[in-house]
Amino acid sequence: MWEYVRQMTLVLEPLIMTAKPSTTTPAKPKSKTARKTARAAAKPADAIKLLKADHKEVKGYFKQYEGLENDADKQALADKICLALIVHAQIEEEIFYPAARETIDDDDLLDEAEVEHASAKQLIAELQAMKAGDRLFDAKVTVLGEYIDHHVEEEESEMFPESRDSDLNLKELGVMLAARKAELMAQFGM
Ligand SMILES: [Fe+2]
Ligand SMILES: [Fe+2]
Repeated sequence: MWEYVRQMTLVLEPLIMTAKPSTTTPAKPKSKTARKTARAAAKPADAIKLLKADHKEVKGYFKQYEGLENDADKQALADKICLALIVHAQIEEEIFYPAARETIDDDDLLDEAEVEHASAKQLIAELQAMKAGDRLFDAKVTVLGEYIDHHVEEEESEMFPESRDSDLNLKELGVMLAARKAELMAQFGM
């Protein structure tokens, strides 16, 4: 009897093996965007990449502003610039700067960045209290742009390289920054 069972097992085993459902079922073809989104979710940008992407985006807005003539367009873009900068400054102040202050041991650099944020926010508040077409509106947007250029240059040439060389967990920080950014953007209806 047992010999029969053993024999049957030997005969059936290859059949059972081949009948096993394949574990490598080919995935449904996805669109390019879906693949990109899935990749981004699986591999979020590190903190520095995320902050640099913000810098690049806002720099583009300032450039775009230079070419505008119409007050309604200027107003819409200035609003966008102000909100983007407010969100960016807030995630840096809440998450990135405190982590960098603890890790890179360069208090002067972090202090200056904080003061620069405060001045930029002052200018942003002034702009938000004005409307396109008002005297000095364009000038304030231009000066804010120059100011941000200077600040970004310092972050990208000093703070970020120092952070990259430190023990900061940039991946983890990137996840936190992205989450807080999404929350703030939703709050501002962006
Ligand atoms: Fe900053
Ligand atoms: Fe920044």
